[in-house]
Amino acid sequence: MSIMRRVIERVAQVLPDRQQDEIHSARRYLGQPVDRLDGVDKVTGGARFSAEYPVEGLVYGAIAFSTIAKGVISHIDTTAAARAPGIIKVFTHLNTPAMKAPAPFSIGGEPSAGGSAVRILNTDRISWNGQPIALVIADTEERAEHAASLVAVTYTVEEAATSFERAIAHAVTPKDVLGESPELVKGDPDAALRSASHRVDLTFKTPPYNHNAIEPHAAIAVWEGNDRLTIFDTSQFTAGGANSLADIFGLKKENVKLLAPFVGGGFGGKGTMWFYNHLCAMAAREVGRPVRIALSRKGVFRIVGGRTPSQQRVAIAADSTGTFTAFIHEGFTAQSTDNHFPEQFSFPPRHLYAMQSYRIGQQVTNVNRVANTFMRAPGESIGTFAVESAIDALSYELKIDPIELRMRNEPETDPVSGHPFSSRYLREAYAMGAERFGWRKRPAAVRAQRDRGWLIGQGVATGTYPVYRMATAARLRLNDDGTVVIQTSCQEMGMGTATVQTQHAADRLGLPLDRVRFEYGDSSLPWAGVAGGSSQTISVALAVQDAAAKLVKELLSLARKNGGSPLAQADADDVQPANSGLFLKAMPAIGEAYVDILRRAGKTFVETEVTTGMPLESMKYSMHSYAAQFCEAAVHEETGEVRIRRWVGAFDTGSILNPKTATSQFRGGIIMGIGMALTEETMFDDRTGRIMNPSLAEYHIPVQADVPEIDIVYTDVADPKTPLGAHGIGEIGITGVAAAVANAVYHATGTRVTDLPITLDKLL
Ligand code: MOS
Repeated sequence: MSIMRRVIERVAQVLPDRQQDEIHSARRYLGQPVDRLDGVDKVTGGARFSAEYPVEGLVYGAIAFSTIAKGVISHIDTTAAARAPGIIKVFTHLNTPAMKAPAPFSIGGEPSAGGSAVRILNTDRISWNGQPIALVIADTEERAEHAASLVAVTYTVEEAATSFERAIAHAVTPKDVLGESPELVKGDPDAALRSASHRVDLTFKTPPYNHNAIEPHAAIAVWEGNDRLTIFDTSQFTAGGANSLADIFGLKKENVKLLAPFVGGGFGGKGTMWFYNHLCAMAAREVGRPVRIALSRKGVFRIVGGRTPSQQRVAIAADSTGTFTAFIHEGFTAQSTDNHFPEQFSFPPRHLYAMQSYRIGQQVTNVNRVANTFMRAPGESIGTFAVESAIDALSYELKIDPIELRMRNEPETDPVSGHPFSSRYLREAYAMGAERFGWRKRPAAVRAQRDRGWLIGQGVATGTYPVYRMATAARLRLNDDGTVVIQTSCQEMGMGTATVQTQHAADRLGLPLDRVRFEYGDSSLPWAGVAGGSSQTISVALAVQDAAAKLVKELLSLARKNGGSPLAQADADDVQPANSGLFLKAMPAIGEAYVDILRRAGKTFVETEVTTGMPLESMKYSMHSYAAQFCEAAVHEETGEVRIRRWVGAFDTGSILNPKTATSQFRGGIIMGIGMALTEETMFDDRTGRIMNPSLAEYHIPVQADVPEIDIVYTDVADPKTPLGAHGIGEIGITGVAAAVANAVYHATGTRVTDLPITLDKLL
């Protein structure tokens, strides 16, 4: 643990908690299934995505990708490309102006978490198969694409590390795993494992996965002169993207504006810079025209990172009552040499079970592949596959019901840090889910249920995801027409950000929903962090909460300056927002409407702005979301085909702010998990390091026919340590899903599949 971290932890211990603050006015909108505010725009085509902005004089870029995994460009010939019709310019490493390395999270020049520091088109070195080697600008996209295919290149090929399996021999321990220790040990788990009466020791493999958002990555760059850049870029992090671009081009931060009002799905793949955006800006400046680069699906596979492959060992020892006497979870992931992101698969067991002894850690390998990145609950989704499959296996070994086994090992406090849980109702989630699913009717034995040629099985698994919060700024403006505008640079990628924050602000200020406007998706608005780590809802909520509290104070001081106001004698503690104004808590009929306070004061608006502090609460409490995933699977006896027949997801994620958007988030996560379990896999050709299936025809994500009805239930118990009592819920849905599928398949067939995806060949 770093010294800095230790100091912050010390400080956190002595500071009072920021308790969840109750909204004084009644919750009128929060907790209600309010329709998405952007729903109509999206279904009518009114919502504009990055590639769709009409910009005058637009020209188009297309990228040529390397076909080797490692080496040096020895010769590149652009003559034919430059002569093709409509070509404006061809950029290669020979004529591209120098740019600083992309710094996804402003870690200039350093290998960066979840992004890549390769200096694209500023180097003749090739680090992965698919690296951009040329960028062609033309008057149409088709002409640019054609000319890109005419770029002729020869390489001096070097031996590349293309195989993860082979790279494991050279694995190293990373200096940290997302700031946490790469290995934790308590007691002697190896000895405990050897002497145990019951044990499992299994090795699991998960393949690489690629991002397939419905909106492929795209940007349009427009310059004013040489020092002001506006870029429409599909981004999960408008402020971070703008900062990175300012850094790359040496611009003042305030001179870069990144706009992403709508994002067609991110899932981690749009959290950092992925070359197309800064190449787009570079080209636009060089050719003196606005440029668009819209990646094809194949282009996304070539230059946008996805999930690392993993190999994980889980060994658990238990006594005859099922108590875990040893817990070992260790293994490997892959990253590229220009990246530092050992995906945190070893995080789940750090917080899930009481363990008498443990070794929990991970190592990392370097491969010549595009940098791996954040993807759909990085760490927890692949980590829970291994851990929750192993626990299922142990339950058969012990002849204890798999839910009962988990409940017998529920910890009182965080098993590694010892911190109290801020909120943990996993027991309740299991009870709710089991009831809904009809778990009691499940026979204990495997291969015990058949239905016309199909073997039927039921499996469960625990899901978990941390509660993250980030420092966030928000501006709140109350106008003299009684409307409120909230501004923060955060992102809407389909999860309902604007809807929930509008519900929140309306309740907090006692306003009707239609009096509140939420503005976001623009880097020039007050700073919000990445829409990642399922952190955005509570991060923005706290900023809105603080900005609203400040607004109330300012309004009151205006009222106090005016003897005629019924609030002239009131203190901040005496009043509460309600009915579009401030009213006395003790005498709710006495108060004044916002518009009247402003009118008396002769003001057209009042504005407040705040920045929230660091999440010190997470240094003091173990803060997580939980899920109990219930799956019924059918496996065809002759073909080995797996169909998911039923699903119940029972979630413990604090207060549910909008049951409609929340349920949709949970379902979406479960569907992604079904893809992870059954169909998705990025296939690399080990000879060349090339991705062999870079299209939706060959990389299979679940379609409607693969997804059963998904039943969602939740505990809806407020977490006293989080804003609004809520947790982020973007990622918890996928966690535990692959294990629940594997466990149901085992129950159906008696075959334990330990390497994803669970394809029929593994069941024959
Ligand atoms: Mo998420 S993988 O933190 O966008």
